[in-house]
Amino acid sequence: MEFDVFNCEQMHELGLKLASELPSGTVVALQGDLGAGKTTLVRSVAKGLGIEEVVQSPTFNIMKLYLKGNRPLIHIDAYRLADLNTDIGLDEYIGYETGLTMIEWPEFISNLLPKNTLYIEISITGESSRHIKVYSNDSKLLEVIK
Ligand SMILES: Nc1ncnc2c1ncn2[C@@H]1O[C@H](COP(=O)(O)OP(=O)(O)O)[C@@H](O)[C@H]1O
Ligand SMILES: [Mg+2]
Repeated sequence: MEFDVFNCEQMHELGLKLASELPSGTVVALQGDLGAGKTTLVRSVAKGLGIEEVVQSPTFNIMKLYLKGNRPLIHIDAYRLADLNTDIGLDEYIGYETGLTMIEWPEFISNLLPKNTLYIEISITGESSRHIKVYSNDSKLLEVIK
């Protein structure tokens, strides 16, 4: 499935929808260049989950857990795991069954992603416009975005 968003507000709406409708246990893989809007989308999901903490880019933490919302949010940025090839136990958190897992730079931990991962690929098409491709083996997850 593909569509465009034309401003931050529309991206925010997408995040709120994901937060309210994705089933717990869902793993969302966010693909896209630096500045595409991956972290921005995670912030909107956090808002939608009622998480009040500020969601930072976790590039320096690799992973951050937010437990004070309606459901847990696990935010992973795998950028610094490139070429590391080390088991740091992330698999314990990916697909955390009562919450949502959102992963930036999922290509670096593709071996850890479940079969039913929801992939959201964001491409920059203008200053505030983005083209979004969504795909998954699990068609129920695609229904959520429609
Ligand atoms: N429609 C949009 N959706 C998401 N971000 C947007 C949009 N338009 C402009 N932006 C800006 O693009 C930047 C995206 O940054 P960020 O979310 O940190 O990207 P990434 O995590 O993919 O590197 C932010 O400064 C944000 O305000
Ligand atoms: Mg980011």
